[in-house]
Parts: sequence; C-alpha cells; structure tokens
Amino acid sequence: MKPIGLVDGQLVDLNENVVPMEDRGHQFGDGVYEVTKVYNGHCFALKQHLDRLFRSLKELRIPAAYTPEELAEFHGNLIKESGITEGSVYLQITRGVAPRVHSFPDKVVPRLTMAIRPANPAANQELWANGAKVITAPDERWLRCDIKSLNLLGNILAKQKAKEAHCFEALMVRDGVVSEGSSSNFAVVKDGVIWTHPVNNLILKGVTRTIVVEELAPALDISVLEKGFSPEFMKTAQEAFLMGTSTEIMPVVGIDKAVVGDGTVGEITRKIQQAYVAKINRECKR
Ligand code: PDD
Repeated sequence: MKPIGLVDGQLVDLNENVVPMEDRGHQFGDGVYEVTKVYNGHCFALKQHLDRLFRSLKELRIPAAYTPEELAEFHGNLIKESGITEGSVYLQITRGVAPRVHSFPDKVVPRLTMAIRPANPAANQELWANGAKVITAPDERWLRCDIKSLNLLGNILAKQKAKEAHCFEALMVRDGVVSEGSSSNFAVVKDGVIWTHPVNNLILKGVTRTIVVEELAPALDISVLEKGFSPEFMKTAQEAFLMGTSTEIMPVVGIDKAVVGDGTVGEITRKIQQAYVAKINRECKR
C-alpha cells in the first residue's frame, strides 16, 4: 500500500517532478480540483464529484480533456495500483502549459494530475464522537466560492487561524452572515430545524451538504431551512455541525468562547451522522 500519482492518465511516483514551470495552475492557480473519499476500495459519491468538476471547468471555460468515464477509470486505477482501500483521491485540472500571460492561451491543453493517499483512521474519531470547537473569521474570499478553484488563499488563512486557536475549523462570516467553513459546509439546529446557508456564489455546493439536505434530513423527517444566519443567531442554536468529504458529519460543540447547546453532541446531529455513515456502508459495501 503506497501513495501514488497520475499525470494525464499515466501512473507516476508521487515524488516525481511532473509540474512544468509554465503550468498555469502553478503560476496563477488557474485550475479546478476535487477530493473524493475512498472507503473499502470504493470512491464514495464519485458521480456527484465529477458532475461538480465539469461544472467548475465550464464556469472557468477550461476545456474538458477527459470524459467522466475516463476520470472514473483513473480513480479505479489509482485504487488498484496503490492497494489503498481507505483513503482519498485528489484530482486537479489546470489550463495547461503556456508562457506566463494573464489572458488564456490560444490553444489550451488542460493538464490532469491526481494522487491517492491513505486516510488516517484515528485522526477524527474523537471529534466525530464528542464534537469539535471552531472559531469565526472574516470571509475574505472572492465572489465565486461556488467554483472549486485551486485559489484557496482565503480558505487557508482562515484555517490557519483556527489551527492557531487550537480549533478544528474556521466559520467564515461575510456581511454579518455565516457562509461556510474554510473546507466544509456548516449548519445549525434551532428548535428542531436545520439551518444552512443557501446555495449561491458565496459557498461551495458541497456533495456532503447536498446528501444531508436532499436525502438524509428528509428521510429522517427533519426540516431544513436554506437561509443565511448571523453569528448572534448561531450562538442561540441548540446544535451545530460541519459537512464535508474529509470532515464527514462533524458535530460542533464550541464556537469562539461560546458553548453550543449543553456542550454535548445534539440528537439531530447524531441522527444525521449515523445516517451518513450508514449510507457510506451501504454504497461502499463496508
Ligand atoms: N473541501 N466548502 C468548502 C470551502 C470546501 O473546501 C469543501 C470541501 C466543502 C465541502 O464539500 P464536499 O462535501 O463536496 O467535500 C465546502 C475539500 C474536501 C478540500 O478542500 O479538501
């Protein structure tokens, strides 16, 4: 079992130097990415990730060099060749190699790079069980957060603030509204209703969020309100949780200096978390 890379369909050693100086991803962050989790040797929700990838490419006017079927095959090759059954696959597509000029090259040959790495199964267990603490931070990102672009400066600066505060995540606040986490979506539970930011240009439409909103909550008969809320409102909520591919369903028990609810994982959060794990187990035959 070893991490392994792939460049334009060819398997490579992860330590190989494969990025040319003039790649626009390297120079401008001119590209898009996806992260998919692997459970029991199966990519979870791969179709949804690939659908979003093609949407991101379209929004940035980067041509798609591969079909979804080919990309799915590459995911399979990485799993097979690496022997990794529990891990994650990172995929990025850039606008390719060209002399460094801001406008698009006349002829774009997009570059695909991928990597598979094993998961650390112990990493989040305690936090999934007992909940995580988070901070709030100003949302300093651009206005197309719906595109999963390689440009993550606002996200990484916010996540670093969380790390320095010994917290798991930073919730980003723009114009008095909580948008999402630096690498996850966010929801609170108030009087039995799940509140989460609506899908628009200010958040990434997370695959995990979509599963919760469109599938798990309705099946559990829990109402969802896709509506922005303020940090003050958030601190009156009884429960809170994060949603993301790596984060999965992560209960939140503390925000800044405030305790969420009674400081333990809430009932609705736990139900959503259990339903999410059950779906993974079903679809990945664990
Ligand atoms: N992050 N919002 C942001 C800003 C994200 O970066 C992510 C995912 C999500 C959740 O999306 P999904 O449920 O589709 O993973 C929301 C990935 C995992 C990352 O950057 O590593």
